[in-house]
Amino acid sequence: MIIEPIIKGVVAKTAHPYGCEQAVLQQIEYVKQANPIKHGPKRVLIIGGSSGFGLAARIALTFGGCQADTISVSYEHAPSEKGVGSAGYFNNIAFQKHAQREGRIAVNIQGDAFSKQLKLDVVEAIETYFEGEVDLIIYSVASGVRPNPETGELWRSAIKPIDQDVSGATILLEDDSWHETTLTSATEKQAEETIKVMGGEDWESWVDALINSESIAQGCKTIAFSYVGPELTHPIYLDGTLGRAKIDLHQTSHSLNLKLANFDGGAYATVCKALVTKASVFIPGLSPYILALYKIMKEQGTHEGCIEQMQRLFADKLYTDKKVPVDCERLIRMDDWELCSDTQNKVKALMDSLTAENFKELGDYQGYKQEFLRLNGFGFDSIDYSQPVSIDTFVK
Ligand code: NAI
Repeated sequence: MIIEPIIKGVVAKTAHPYGCEQAVLQQIEYVKQANPIKHGPKRVLIIGGSSGFGLAARIALTFGGCQADTISVSYEHAPSEKGVGSAGYFNNIAFQKHAQREGRIAVNIQGDAFSKQLKLDVVEAIETYFEGEVDLIIYSVASGVRPNPETGELWRSAIKPIDQDVSGATILLEDDSWHETTLTSATEKQAEETIKVMGGEDWESWVDALINSESIAQGCKTIAFSYVGPELTHPIYLDGTLGRAKIDLHQTSHSLNLKLANFDGGAYATVCKALVTKASVFIPGLSPYILALYKIMKEQGTHEGCIEQMQRLFADKLYTDKKVPVDCERLIRMDDWELCSDTQNKVKALMDSLTAENFKELGDYQGYKQEFLRLNGFGFDSIDYSQPVSIDTFVK
């Protein structure tokens, strides 16, 4: 079959397996020539390792200097009569192929990270492939729903402001159109459910499960990703439902840090830069900021994607012979370049001038759209998209 990009709103409905492999290969090439990770972990569990930051972390740790073996958990779809399969599914296959070629263990476990059974499956995989212990646990799940472990009822996350209505633009990648939207304030229930889905509770239950099964190695660390952003994004992010969930995640990092201190390890919430990923294009009001941010950071030569962020995190911050650098709230700041005042002054000025008519010219819409297409395996010059793909060969 011939696979073309189909986008509905901000959701890609198709993904190209060869393009996804190309995206993985480009990231591998980047980390191989980057500043290497010198004191890194050897046995890594990544929960949410099939795309975005989780995949980039997996690539950096395997190919970027410390030659880690990895077990990754993700929720992805294989090709079926319902569709061609998700990008993360093809990323998993591509990553495994290239990691195994270099003699690395690369285990892909697909299923619901929130479930108790999947945690038991992972403990078993750690026994089988890692001689029973992990050195690093990365929690990188981005999800809209989580089943209540007691009742099975679904908690749903809502991306909304709190105690105010907020207006901003959403950009539909489907037809490159800009839409002014007003988001009404979240109800208390929506705010609470967002904390259940995107806060720290499930991260903690993973670490607890691994402590209880004696799967934590001496010196084991755990990280999860957060976002803070500049003041101009606070109404929709930090002061809204997602921000509340992230504050919960930050608090969880402190209790996990105490638990892992028993193993001479540590836990850190890591604040990353705003980037185009499958998850972030969903956040209404954030797209104009990302268009302006990309434009300015590219001009200043400080722009990073997921892979640059992850390589820098491990090589310069988490695995050096010095103490892990943290701010006064014990957060690792990978958004340091994003929040630099010179960058933010220029971003704010540019954002103020963006409109439905000029955002494609003034902001980096081309870069934004290209990155989105590439997340789904499209837009690579080296791939001939007119050639049919034998999709059945990707069904494992
Ligand atoms: P993504 O959508 O690219 O990746 C999410 C991962 O979670 C995928 O591997 C997916 O398969 C997995 N996943 C989702 N539901 C699952 C489930 N039920 N069971 C197992 N796996 C599941 O997302 P992205 O953007 O990389 O986000 C990862 C983390 O980074 C999130 O906590 C997000 O808030 C945070 N972050 C994202 C930023 C951005 O601009 N994209 C900025 C700062 C932090």
